Amino acid sequence: MMKGNKILIIMAAGSGTRMGSGLPKQFLSLGGIPILRRTMETFIAAVPGIQVVTVLPDDYLSFWKEYCLSADFTYPQILVSGGFTRFHSVRNALAKVPDGAIVAIHDGVRPLITRDLVRKMFSEMEERNLEGLIPVVPSVDTLKVLDHVPGPDGDTLVSLEGEEVDRSRIFAAQTPQMFRSESIREAYSLPFDTAFTDDASVARKKGIPLSFCYGERYNFKVTCPEDLALAELIVSSTSR
Ligand code: C5P
Repeated sequence: MMKGNKILIIMAAGSGTRMGSGLPKQFLSLGGIPILRRTMETFIAAVPGIQVVTVLPDDYLSFWKEYCLSADFTYPQILVSGGFTRFHSVRNALAKVPDGAIVAIHDGVRPLITRDLVRKMFSEMEERNLEGLIPVVPSVDTLKVLDHVPGPDGDTLVSLEGEEVDRSRIFAAQTPQMFRSESIREAYSLPFDTAFTDDASVARKKGIPLSFCYGERYNFKVTCPEDLALAELIVSSTSR
């Protein structure tokens, strides 16, 4: 069904301190399978033969290799050490990616993505010959722009700008974000900027045209213990 070289760069080099566990969150178990493996397996099932580049914290490279061997999870992976920020981690991974490929950059802590979304996005990239494709979900909450004002008893939140955001125009960006390998590698040769909070922001700075599609509500980032509890419920009640 699908032609051309397809690559998954799976981002798992964060230290995951917000979870409160010693082990970074990408290695925690979700329904008995490490979050990182579960996430990779969805892509492998969606796109048989996809090439996988796994970005890991330097001090977890051998941990992950040992896990994969002991669990008989032997799908080929190119292992890469992460960098100081996600931006630097992505840059390290892109150095391993050949020209002429479609690259999906996905957070290793978004395990509930469906095969269907992965397939649909790769197909759109190919059929519409897109340069960049970003999954987004509409904002269900009304958003406020507030400032922290320090006081004697800690910060208070105040609306200095007095500005309401038009919710219908606000979307949350998810991953996988898909690009052509040469152009996203070139974008990542830009100097680091703290405004680069996802791959789309780097691509936009370089002038790569971006297209958008609907993501999935369950494709959230497992960040804190509440997210993991919710993910466990979803895994146990669906066929994921
Ligand atoms: O920290 P944040 O939640 O934005 O991380 C998103 C993804 O990027 C996670 O999967 C994390 O493992 C990865 N990451 C990385 N290298 C870093 C920081 C985060 O690969 N230096």
